[in-house]
Amino acid sequence: MTPQEHIQQLTEELNQHNYRYYVLAQPSISDFEFDQKLKELEALEHAHPEFKLPDSPTERVGGAITKEFANFTHVRPMLSLNNSYSRDEITEFDQQVMKLAGGKPYTYILEHKFDGVSLSLHYEQGQLVRAVTRGDGVAGDDITANAKTIPTVPLKLMGTGYPDQLEVRGEVVMPLVAFAELNQQREQEGLPLLANPRNTTAGTLKMQDSKAVAQREMTFYGYQLFTDDPITQTDEENFQLLASWGFKQSGADRTCQKLEDIFEYLSEWEEKRHDLPYEIDGIVIKVNELELRPEIGNTSKAPRWAIAYKYKAEDAVTKLESVSFQVGRTGKVTPVANLSPVLLAGTTVKRASIHNADEIGRLGLHEGDTVRVEKGGEIIPKITGVVLDSRNPEAKPIKFLTHCPDCGTELVREEGDANHYCPNTTSCPPQVKGRIIHFASRKAMDIDGLGTEIVNQLVDERLVSNYADLYDLTFEQLVSLERFAELSAQNLLAGIEASKEKPFAKVLFGLGIRFVGETVAKKLARHYGSITALGAASQEDLEQVPDIGGRIAERVVEFFEISDNRELLERLQQSGLRLEQEEKSTGSNALSGKSFVISGVFSSHSREEMKQMIETLGGEIKSSLSKKTHFLLAGENAGPSKLNKAQNLGITVISEEEFLHLINGMD
Ligand code: IVH
Repeated sequence: MTPQEHIQQLTEELNQHNYRYYVLAQPSISDFEFDQKLKELEALEHAHPEFKLPDSPTERVGGAITKEFANFTHVRPMLSLNNSYSRDEITEFDQQVMKLAGGKPYTYILEHKFDGVSLSLHYEQGQLVRAVTRGDGVAGDDITANAKTIPTVPLKLMGTGYPDQLEVRGEVVMPLVAFAELNQQREQEGLPLLANPRNTTAGTLKMQDSKAVAQREMTFYGYQLFTDDPITQTDEENFQLLASWGFKQSGADRTCQKLEDIFEYLSEWEEKRHDLPYEIDGIVIKVNELELRPEIGNTSKAPRWAIAYKYKAEDAVTKLESVSFQVGRTGKVTPVANLSPVLLAGTTVKRASIHNADEIGRLGLHEGDTVRVEKGGEIIPKITGVVLDSRNPEAKPIKFLTHCPDCGTELVREEGDANHYCPNTTSCPPQVKGRIIHFASRKAMDIDGLGTEIVNQLVDERLVSNYADLYDLTFEQLVSLERFAELSAQNLLAGIEASKEKPFAKVLFGLGIRFVGETVAKKLARHYGSITALGAASQEDLEQVPDIGGRIAERVVEFFEISDNRELLERLQQSGLRLEQEEKSTGSNALSGKSFVISGVFSSHSREEMKQMIETLGGEIKSSLSKKTHFLLAGENAGPSKLNKAQNLGITVISEEEFLHLINGMD
């Protein structure tokens, strides 16, 4: 086989595997094999760039940076849909269709209304040549480089029978699991959380760095086909054609003859939609017969042959009883609305988040207002508006506090920051408690028997006011407390004692320095080796450490500048905590310099044990894949997004067996 033939063969084979994995969810080779083949292809393409094909799977990793997206005028305007909220409106819609169809027979095709971002894909000779956002419906942004990173956007159509030119429209969505994972990661890194999957998808598609786009898991569902000359008679056939060319579909499309069938479909999905891996906000109902559509016609905004049935936003109206202000571990003050209890989407809601001062202003909240609360993609309900008619004309506007509700210190709000903070970090009770709770938490010092309630009690009784005080607690002090029996006192002291054995990285994470999450703590611990070395590092030094940005560096330097903190560290050292990177007990550094991401479950060891094995051998655990990652250790049910990313980034995926084999051969 010539290199050219080999490249062609591997490209086709890998695209087929990608399709089986992402579209059909029926992989037929292991990730390891896939990975090997992808690497082989990469090497061949590197040696013979002239033979690289436009639909090469190596194209999906991204790389192109777009300064400004080119504007592209749609071949046919991208219309929107008229909305309806009741069966009566659907009946009316059907009557109008019947009239406009002039007595010709017709059926309807029903499908999920994906709550995502619509995208138009252009294919020439079966190759993807362009991907355009909806924009204002007339023209949108050319985001081809970004769209190529989505595994379910075919780079080349499969099968046969497609015309030279065609356009496929559909929706890009972020699966709910991927969205939740993304937010989890952001939380760990101290980044603001993203509001919902749809906005996140929209934002991601407009990112300028296509490599960053490739890191986000998104799915494209194709639902509309346009060709210059008609090649089908019904939309149902279009769906079948799209599937045969390799487009992923919901599989939920159904052709209905009668209104009753439509109503049944609507009720069916009203329930089942909550079990879907993505969000839908309704159902799209379209006339199935394509030749009837132009006869029925469009308005300037929307077709007359289609309508969206929207599931009602789950909202409720209730009274704002009061606004309380909560102070967190970092001193951030968050307003929370206390509401008259109201039933919303199956649960009783008593509180809603309001985020910050700007939000109070935006909503124009007044005391005793009647407010509208909604449960959207977010877990915590939010206030979306005020029913002005019900407002008491005497009511005063809600004002943000000027002083900390817990310690009375004047709040600060920094330029460009939407949040207020209580600057009294050392003695403001919720901050003190929050820091100790964090220090004792499972991922930090993991102190058995030291949960939120006990910490609150210890602080309220003035036995502790910082984490160093924990190590001075005595049995006598504890048993004298209310609800503390001898046994629980002993257990707590044993838990505190045991925490002295926790590795340096855990202590560092436990200190609660802002933006120093688990991963960053491990990196810093490994890089500097001791608290003394870390404390001596300058802002510039810190920024040289891979993956440590200016924001983190600033906080670390700031932490060590505070003399109270230095004093606390001194006391922790005296109590015998590990403030230095311990020597490897095995003496082996076989995995030194190798980074791992772990996904899935393992049969012979727990995830935590796998982590420890890697770290003991000098390897590094990362929470997310980047091109610098060396291995993805994939157990059973490993996340498809991770596997995909690993494949795209050319990272070796190893199974549990392979891993154990690898390390056993090492000592
Ligand atoms: S068909 C004339 N099918 O809903 C538009 N649209 O509110 C006919 N949408 O801009 C489009 N899921 O982005 C169609 N299964 C689906 C859809 C869908 C979501 C979006 C589409 C459109 C918007 C209109």
